[in-house]
Amino acid sequence: MKNSTIKHDISKTLINWYQQNKRELPWRDITDPYKIWISEIILQQTRVNQGLSYYLRFVERFPIVSLLAEADEDEVLKYWQGLGYYSRARNLHKASKQVMNDFGGFFPSDFSSVLSLSGIGSYTAAAICSFAYNLPHAVVDGNVYRVLSRLFAIETPIDSGKGKKEFEEVASQLLPVDNAAEHNQAIMEFGALQCVPVSPQCDVCPLSGICLANANGLVDKLPVKSKKTAVDHRYFNYLYIEHNAHTFLQKRTEKDVWQNLYEFPLIESDKLLSVPELFEHERFNSLFENIDNINVLEITNPMKHVLSHRVINVQFITINISELNDKLRNLIQVSFSEIDKYPVSRLMEMFLQQKMV
Ligand code: ADE
Repeated sequence: MKNSTIKHDISKTLINWYQQNKRELPWRDITDPYKIWISEIILQQTRVNQGLSYYLRFVERFPIVSLLAEADEDEVLKYWQGLGYYSRARNLHKASKQVMNDFGGFFPSDFSSVLSLSGIGSYTAAAICSFAYNLPHAVVDGNVYRVLSRLFAIETPIDSGKGKKEFEEVASQLLPVDNAAEHNQAIMEFGALQCVPVSPQCDVCPLSGICLANANGLVDKLPVKSKKTAVDHRYFNYLYIEHNAHTFLQKRTEKDVWQNLYEFPLIESDKLLSVPELFEHERFNSLFENIDNINVLEITNPMKHVLSHRVINVQFITINISELNDKLRNLIQVSFSEIDKYPVSRLMEMFLQQKMV
């Protein structure tokens, strides 16, 4: 069988599968580029389940691009509240003004103009142009990488320049030029529901017979990523120092996690410290220099705070002192009742919540 026939059959199989298995979602089976754009931006860093209610509220309040362009940025951000990655909302707002000013209020309909809008990269431009105008641009998102890497046993790392190019080429070759909209939706949905990252059910997959990863026992090894997201383990011993209904804070000014948030005096070490180890620690001794009575009242159980590339192992040590020294006076002295005015990490917030009840 010719290569092109195989590719045609793959697309037909995907579309057939899609018609039987697709989720009914409000941004499907519409051709309004504005609403498709909103849905794609929301779905960039957000799961469908969480994004759905935001999408519905957003397009109800801003049903057309001019209403979005006329709105206050504060209001746009309010509609985004809780969704995270707020630059997405600011770019949406900015791009809506570009549409009004540069494109006469009409959402552009060619790939390079769409790509020129704020916050729109090649994936989003391909999604909008194919879903709204059926233009033959192949989408390549995380789902598509997974499907293609397995189907053709492509071991090129997806996070390399070479990989990006290779996958874009394969995706374009599979795309039927007259049915880009449905094919693109189908391959993404197939990745989201059938060719899932962990334990896909290959026994019920309509493509298992031609899937090279399936034939070669590579399903759970693909796709390949070159850069392992290195997880950095950190150990934070936080000193919650009580003195006359006050405690002490410092600002995290370094270019590091939680930059510009406030925190208790911190002893970072290569493991969580016991009380005797703490009393031997140089930073501890320097902080409490010349203070006679240092009473350790409480030490929390170790906690793990998992961030995208880090695990912060933390414990809070409650210490009572009856006198101050210059080191402590140089910290920010905060009364217990004022502490909630300071921006702190979620971890600090949780500790303070249980401390203040
Ligand atoms: N993720 C990104 N775009 C999507 C879409 N149009 N439908 C479902 N999930 C998506």
